Amino acid sequence: MDKLIIKGGKKLSGDVTVSGSKNASLPIFISTILAPGANEISNVPFLRDINTTIKVLEQLGARVEGNGNVVRIDTGPVANHEATYELVKTMRASVLVLGPLLARFGKARVSLPGGCAIGARPINLHLKGLAAMGAEINLTHGYVEAKARRLKGARINFDIATVGGTEHLMMAAATAKGETILENAAREPEIVDLADVLVKMGAKIEGAGTDTIRITGVEGLSPVAHRVIPDRIEAGTFMIAAAITGGDVRIHDMRLEHLDALVFKLQDAGVEIVNKDNVVRVKGSRKIRSVNIKTRPYPGFPTDMQAQFMTLMCLADGASVVSENIFENRFMHVSELLRFGADIVIEGNTATVKGVKKFSGAPVMATDLRASASLVLAGLAADNTTEVSRIYHLDRGYEALEKKLAGLGADIQRVKE
Ligand code: EPZ
Repeated sequence: MDKLIIKGGKKLSGDVTVSGSKNASLPIFISTILAPGANEISNVPFLRDINTTIKVLEQLGARVEGNGNVVRIDTGPVANHEATYELVKTMRASVLVLGPLLARFGKARVSLPGGCAIGARPINLHLKGLAAMGAEINLTHGYVEAKARRLKGARINFDIATVGGTEHLMMAAATAKGETILENAAREPEIVDLADVLVKMGAKIEGAGTDTIRITGVEGLSPVAHRVIPDRIEAGTFMIAAAITGGDVRIHDMRLEHLDALVFKLQDAGVEIVNKDNVVRVKGSRKIRSVNIKTRPYPGFPTDMQAQFMTLMCLADGASVVSENIFENRFMHVSELLRFGADIVIEGNTATVKGVKKFSGAPVMATDLRASASLVLAGLAADNTTEVSRIYHLDRGYEALEKKLAGLGADIQRVKE
């Protein structure tokens, strides 16, 4: 296994380019099940989760060329309708193949994703929606077995604004018979990107990006070419890297409007953010002001930025309160941050962070994707050396992070553990 060695205290400066969005790429890859033929997806990041999604599609019989930047997918040859536990347990988003397989073939057998470090993350709302569309769903031996002669449109109201559930049912509804309405739908930019792909394929979708999405089923979809949107969480992570090191960084190919909640909180904390000619310049200040955050569904403060922002607040002046309202166990970075000298007290889904003067480098262990990013940020700001182990978590969602940070002047290297 690899680890990162970081010699902290360097102010980051210079230019960095954001890769394509992991959380847009995954459902877009899966949507090609609905559109047999030559699909070409570009601006795809080189990530472990992308490779896993490709393995799932190949297991179904799809032909895939490439694993990053440009990926060509032809699901014409798909003949197997099962996604096995081995693959689904490594990446839960694989369960999204269920709806498209049902829509195209009338049957599917997909492993339940099982637990995850940050929470139980059930898919009950996905299955409830598919059942409302006429699917017959059985859970046996840890698998979902589903059948449907033809899915039919339905009116669905989500108890929780679920990102995956909204994506799943939007795909299933694209070729269902009649109209589907998704109420209390999630509004993330990745959902809008997926809807753009489905509409390009021939689907009839209105309201993506709002809390009510209307899908009118069509007979079939055709293959497309599409460039994935930039990864807003990678972009937000670089913004905090600039802020926490007191640096001056120019971030290219990001969509600032996808990060309003983060931008306002960073500005409250005293970080200077200027968007000019499609380049976002972020300047950290010597003093970081403490700011409270509550994670919320988009356009609220993104849960995927909570660990990174908390790390910044550890070095702010004064106390801040971080409340995590999306997942039940997303404070695993806290015990690792305490090793740097942070002062954080957790009570339920709330963490009270008291700013400290500085971090001292320490050996720490990554536990999940965004927690590992927060440990790298802490290492950049800490004095002397930090070692971050189990960085396979990081490789799930950040393309060549250490190379991009080194390009901004960080003293960081990847070594074999
Ligand atoms: C997506 O996960 C993202 N993953 C997550 O990013 C992100 O944190 C999350 O949305 C929230 O923004 C991808 O897009 C691949 P949800 P998803 O369904 O779709 C509960 C990262 O770091 N829920 O919106 O799984 C669920 O338990 C990852 O890139 C149900 O109860 O999230 C959670 O508490 C981590 N039943 C809440 O809803 C369901 O059927 C939000 O989950 C579905 C969800």
